[in-house]
Amino acid sequence: MCGIVGYVGCKPATDFLVSGLKRLEYRGYDSAGVATVNGAIHVRRSLGKLAALEAVLSENPIAGNVGIGHTRWATHGKPSVANAHPHQNEAMDFAVVHNGIIENYIELKNELQASGVIFSSETDTEVIVHLLAANYQGSLIEAMQATVERLLGSFAIAAVSSDAPDTIVAVKKESPLVIGKGADGFLLASDVYAIGEHIDALCYVDDFQFVELKSSSCTVYDRALEPVFINWQEVDHHAVQNELVGYPHYMLKEIFEQPEAIARTIAHTKVALEQLTIDTSIIEAVTIVACGTAYHAGLAANAMLEQMLNHPVRVEVASEFRYRKPIINSHHLVIIISQSGETADSIAALRLAKAEGAQVLAVVNTKGSTIAREADSVLYTQAGIEVAVASTKAYTTQITVLTMLAAYWGGADISAALDKLIHQVQRGLELDGQMMDLAEALKYEQDVYYIGRGVDAVTGMEATLKLKEISYIHAESYPAGELKHGTIALIENGTPIIAIATDSELVEKMKSNIEEVAARGAKVYIFATPACAKAFGAIAQEIMLLPSTPLYFSPIAAIVPLQLLAYHTALIRGCDVDQPRNLAKSVTVE
Ligand code: F6R
Repeated sequence: MCGIVGYVGCKPATDFLVSGLKRLEYRGYDSAGVATVNGAIHVRRSLGKLAALEAVLSENPIAGNVGIGHTRWATHGKPSVANAHPHQNEAMDFAVVHNGIIENYIELKNELQASGVIFSSETDTEVIVHLLAANYQGSLIEAMQATVERLLGSFAIAAVSSDAPDTIVAVKKESPLVIGKGADGFLLASDVYAIGEHIDALCYVDDFQFVELKSSSCTVYDRALEPVFINWQEVDHHAVQNELVGYPHYMLKEIFEQPEAIARTIAHTKVALEQLTIDTSIIEAVTIVACGTAYHAGLAANAMLEQMLNHPVRVEVASEFRYRKPIINSHHLVIIISQSGETADSIAALRLAKAEGAQVLAVVNTKGSTIAREADSVLYTQAGIEVAVASTKAYTTQITVLTMLAAYWGGADISAALDKLIHQVQRGLELDGQMMDLAEALKYEQDVYYIGRGVDAVTGMEATLKLKEISYIHAESYPAGELKHGTIALIENGTPIIAIATDSELVEKMKSNIEEVAARGAKVYIFATPACAKAFGAIAQEIMLLPSTPLYFSPIAAIVPLQLLAYHTALIRGCDVDQPRNLAKSVTVE
């Protein structure tokens, strides 16, 4: 994880670095730091969120028109000021920020320590700055080239030196890096969103390309340090803008943006499907691979894809997929789903699938991301930037795309259902008030169980993840029929159960399962479509009416109020809704 940013130009660097880091905070927020060059290198670092760094900078400002910055999600070494980036060598004439993991850092650290280097942090990154200093012979970029040849793992690195006070040098392998130019100078970042407001043109850096930014020039070199042509692209300023516009949190804003995001996704997907280059005639099996919420989106669309394609479709967690030696060949289609397009496990799964000869289709939200670039074909969700760590609009737009893809390949006409979908999502949002009341009822609970059958069990999984990650209430979801095979032992007087019922064909079975838990004293809150609700009568504590949709869209309509429930519960419990503890938005480590 982590995010890096850099600025060279005619203005004070810290303004650009801090505004960029604020926008990169979703990538990690356990510490942050900046370095500027102004004669010497000046570093300010702090533990905790960016506000702490801003406080340090306002007490102890640093000048300079050249600088680099970092926001951290700890991998090697606990969150602390000493482990925060930028890291410096002992003579303090170099500073480095890094996103990624240096896999051979122990070996390098031993080697450097044997030569007398003293380390001041527990991070893998610190080896980079010491190697850079050791390799420096008057050219920062050549020192970086020599350094990178020693590194195993993934990295996006930016470095400054007091000996080259007008320069930032950067390089990447597997971790994202974008450079941009604007009226005030040149910038770099892990994500265009961090620098979009300051630039007019951008370029995504490729693996082992070296970047040299000066106030009046930007040069990109290949691995042998031969200059390469920079393919500047225009910045879509609308796409990189994202303010709270009156909402108290990004999560709430993003939940309420879903009708608009889904509408955009439908319009875009209609066109994109016609241009898709996947050869379906050779497909014999489909594997969907993703992590977390994106994995749930795969599960939600599983049945529809299988029916429409008439081929087996399996859905797998990316971190498991690659290590189980899956049998994949050129008759397989592998669909990678990812909001960020930078999730390390999903990237590894993509590369494995390609190496085995499968066709790879990516369903991705972030344009230009690694997964989007490396897949054979891409269907972009049009969720817009998702800032809150808990994914909401990315999830519902992913299901929208996958369902449209299934219908397209199966020749099914779902246009009437698509026309109604936006209205149904809006109806889900109208349950906001009821979700606030339910959040009050749940606020002191330690465990909540979600049950459902078929796609409703998947909705339960996603709803559980939302509640756990932002409210820190322990929650479990079960296929309703599975409960009696063990977990029902946990149900006692007052245990809260959230039952989801949108499938009329399974409602009688759901009713029996609800009665089983109610008989053991559970407090049951039912989320049901009107058709299902009729079946439940007096057994429910409360029934929340979900809009009726075709079954393939019920995971979308049903999750919306459950996202709101997680949000309000977290809020009442005083949790940091947008930046929950221990998490980062983009999981770029395995
Ligand atoms: C949970 C959440 C995560 C992500 C997962 C995959 O709310 O957001 O579970 O879904 O880390 O991330 P992407 O979709 O960026 O690959």
